Amino acid sequence: MAIQYQQENQLFSLNTKRTTYQMKVDTKGFLLHLYYGGKISGNMAYLLTYYDRGFSGNPADAGNDRTYSLDALPQEYPQAGAGDYRSSALVIRNADGSEYCDLRYVRHEIRRGKYGLKGLPAVHAPEAEAESLEILLEDSVSRVQVRLLYGVLEDEDIITRSAEIINLGDGPVCVEKAASACLDFVGGEYDLVSFYGRHAMERNFQRTRIAHGCQVIGSRRGTSSHQYNPAVILADKGATEDAGSCYGMVFVYSGNFMCEAERDQYGQTRALMGLHSDLFHYPLEKGEKLVIPETILCYSAQGFGGLSRRYHRCIRKHLCRGKYSHQSRPVLINSWEAAYFDFNGETIYRLAREAAELGIDMVVMDDGWFGKRDDDSGLGDWQVNEEKLGCTLGELIRRVNADGIKFGIWIEPEMVSEDSDIYRSHPDWAIRIQGREPVRARNQLVLDFSRQEVRDHIFEQICHVLDQGKIEYVKWDMNRSLTDIYSMEKAQGKVTYDYVLGVYEFLERLMQRYPDLLIEGCSGGGGRFDAGMLYYTPQIWCSDNTDAVDRLRIQYGTSFFYPVCTVGAHVSAVPNHQTGRSVSLHTRGVVAMAGTFGYE
Ligand code: GLA
Repeated sequence: MAIQYQQENQLFSLNTKRTTYQMKVDTKGFLLHLYYGGKISGNMAYLLTYYDRGFSGNPADAGNDRTYSLDALPQEYPQAGAGDYRSSALVIRNADGSEYCDLRYVRHEIRRGKYGLKGLPAVHAPEAEAESLEILLEDSVSRVQVRLLYGVLEDEDIITRSAEIINLGDGPVCVEKAASACLDFVGGEYDLVSFYGRHAMERNFQRTRIAHGCQVIGSRRGTSSHQYNPAVILADKGATEDAGSCYGMVFVYSGNFMCEAERDQYGQTRALMGLHSDLFHYPLEKGEKLVIPETILCYSAQGFGGLSRRYHRCIRKHLCRGKYSHQSRPVLINSWEAAYFDFNGETIYRLAREAAELGIDMVVMDDGWFGKRDDDSGLGDWQVNEEKLGCTLGELIRRVNADGIKFGIWIEPEMVSEDSDIYRSHPDWAIRIQGREPVRARNQLVLDFSRQEVRDHIFEQICHVLDQGKIEYVKWDMNRSLTDIYSMEKAQGKVTYDYVLGVYEFLERLMQRYPDLLIEGCSGGGGRFDAGMLYYTPQIWCSDNTDAVDRLRIQYGTSFFYPVCTVGAHVSAVPNHQTGRSVSLHTRGVVAMAGTFGYE
């Protein structure tokens, strides 16, 4: 059994091949974290220390015992308001307005197989390869319950964590902040490795000491973002590529996220991964629940390299799905840098014919084939522009296929141009605040994908296009960040989260309807390159920057967590369209072959 429970000590041990994760319910019912690291067999509760510490308060049931304080004890799921002043995993605003939560252990259950999450991507595994633990905690006054979920993939050295927050109380409560994983370390000195960037220069490696104070990275952009990737490493001060301890936290989510790393007054370290608390106030009526996206944890004593190899295996085997997750991907040529908006059916056919001679497998018709789209307009009108193509889509596909080349197409379903028929008939479908001029980015607005009717309309249109011929690949793009957060339909604090779940629901429907379709994710290149998207799209366009020298840096950062098969990488023309640099074809080829290979 990978998950063991020792009744006399109320001790949980989660064991993988080379690691152990341990926690216990203490005498007061708090769930305390004890240990995460290399495999051990003892009870690590001796690491808990109890001192009388000034200005660290004591829970009511500790009576006069001034040595018991949540402000100093390592915890599994720390809550705000009840005496732990560090960053918290959970902030609840109760019906009376108080921000307080006091969760105590109720019961637990150990099951074979890996738990799933309704509406959210999650690590999956055959029943024999995983075990799950569910620990139920409850605040007996507010009747807020938290179900902590742990998945253990023993052979992969992977532990996943998630949480469900349920309101059983009579009044409404509001979730103001929620993480899925907290790692508390009572000793040690750690560095935080994170990956920052910008459009066309994503996932640059950064290593900083976790000093006293709190270091926060995250996204408020509605997507996981080019700026910070939702995956970090806590590394021992001396850890290198090949040696030393490091802990990974990979968030399986594609929207606003927040990762905090804090060194407290006693030299202890806390790391949290979860939803961003800005632009988020999630109300729960009696009986309602909120599912917090999963975090994939991994520990390696073999430095960054050991950690990367485990994440790569886990993502390939237990996150990506569908026909292509274990198949070599088609080598494709994409029309974007060849023609931008300036093409017709003949242009695409000529690309395909040249591709056939070079042994390329597929031609992808990028942006510009639909509606009135010769510049930044027409998004949302997903009708083939046959006048521009000079033929029907079906005819073009058949011509391309006749030369032995597969056909793929670009879409950007979440977007709308103000100059479009859909916007003219449904202006309220865009995310914008009534009475204000919206912020435009790339001259476009974002559709409110948190609304079912909006998704249904777009889904129908996209299916109509995909049904016109043998389309074997879709590049799913998303070319701006969210602003003007507002929904005509629901409590405002729900929009950012519900939007992402809407995107997931759409992708899931698309996968079910076209099980053999290869979907490549994209958001202005790698602006939504995260483990959440990889559950639906087994590859993601890594960056709009195709310069081979810059790509070395971008793909290096990406490689810490994400396997080669997920990284879209293409040979493009020189001088490079983004940087003006000329690099030999050999170098461009070698760099692109460190990903899912193709051409621009
Ligand atoms: C984004 C993508 C590009 C291309 C354009 C089309 O920038 O990352 O690859 O598809 O959109 O508008």
